[in-house]
Amino acid sequence: MHPEEVMQKYETYINPSSTRLFRFMGLSSIEAQAEGWTITDTEGTEFIDCLGGFGMFAVGHKHPKVVEAVEREQRAMPMCGKVLFNEPAALLAEKLAEITPGALQYNFFCNSGTEAVEGCLKVARLATGRRKFVAAKNAFHGKTFGSLTATGRDMYRDPFKPLLEGFVHVPFNDLSALEDAVDEETAAVILEPVQGEGGINVPADGYMKQAEEIAHKKGALLIADEVQTGIGRTGAWFGVNHDGARPDLMAVAKALGGGIMPLGSVVGTEAAWKGLIEAPFLHTSTFGGGQMACAAGVATLQVIEEENLLQRSTETGAYFKRGIEEIAREFPQVIKEVRGRGMMIGMDLVKEGAGGMLMALMIDQHVIVAYTLNNPKVIRIEPPLTMPKQVVDHVLEVLRSSIKQVAAAIEDL
Ligand SMILES: Cc1ncc(COP(=O)(O)O)c(C=O)c1O
Repeated sequence: MHPEEVMQKYETYINPSSTRLFRFMGLSSIEAQAEGWTITDTEGTEFIDCLGGFGMFAVGHKHPKVVEAVEREQRAMPMCGKVLFNEPAALLAEKLAEITPGALQYNFFCNSGTEAVEGCLKVARLATGRRKFVAAKNAFHGKTFGSLTATGRDMYRDPFKPLLEGFVHVPFNDLSALEDAVDEETAAVILEPVQGEGGINVPADGYMKQAEEIAHKKGALLIADEVQTGIGRTGAWFGVNHDGARPDLMAVAKALGGGIMPLGSVVGTEAAWKGLIEAPFLHTSTFGGGQMACAAGVATLQVIEEENLLQRSTETGAYFKRGIEEIAREFPQVIKEVRGRGMMIGMDLVKEGAGGMLMALMIDQHVIVAYTLNNPKVIRIEPPLTMPKQVVDHVLEVLRSSIKQVAAAIEDL
């Protein structure tokens, strides 16, 4: 099909305004193939993927070991019958219990990040018998009703009010505000170890650990939303590993499915899981825990270990960040700050209009980047953790030349 025909169908049957916005940004390619860190369109143009599907492609696109694991299950029994036991789910649950910190042990498998967050919220209410949640301003936890209530951006929330009762939002990285907000009614504090869609906001060292202590002092739980930070993105298995926090519940998704299967998990300690152990059918999912998805998860975690991707995420991420910081020093009129941890990097731009322009210029030179959902002034870099340094060097060249053009136009933006 001609690209124009595909876009017209998007315009007519998916959404006219988002299609027009993408066209306006110069996006008129139809993706056809992907491998590693590249996406090739139907005309044969190759793009370097520095967005990584919002963080989904930790092991890259179409990793052969994940493909092989999924194909094996597809031939045998792709989706669980829901009554008998299945081996991939058992193996993935065991492995997640091993790599998650502290006493996290039990898993509920689901299909997306927002479902993983919903599960955490429900399990926290069940375990504590309390209703209140404390979340952070500018947080992003998903867009279904429960996780949307935890999300801290009014633009996404206001059209859907009334949302759930009992949610309080405090400034991120502000422990005294957190301490003031958490009380004996609080079921849980929910936080991202690094705010992703909020603009790649890295808190002070020890923030998650101290948040855990504040929550526990009042008998509340700590929920770590690791949907974006988890599975190696920040250079450790999980974002909380950086300060040794031990959450009671963790939401995992995105990269867990290896960029091949939709997969998420609610992971909890025995104490947090108490209500579900008593009444396991209070929370269920038809698709969750399917063989293909769980086998993709097992293979993904194996690939991360075999290819040393936690260390590579740390090293390549630091190299990438240093390169961007150099460009930022050259163009302070465009880039205000560079933030990040591992392969989760954000460029905070001086002007909002600069984000769209930079994105369009880079895509024009076949490097895919995007801004963060809550903060369009921040361009995020979240490539596959497998990206080699020579490719990073090329991306930095494209970035420098694009920033130079933005600098020339900045007054008019
Ligand atoms: C921290 C965090 N939590 C939850 C979600 C929601 O995940 P999904 O889009 O898979 O529902 C996201 C998505 O970007 C996220 O970054």
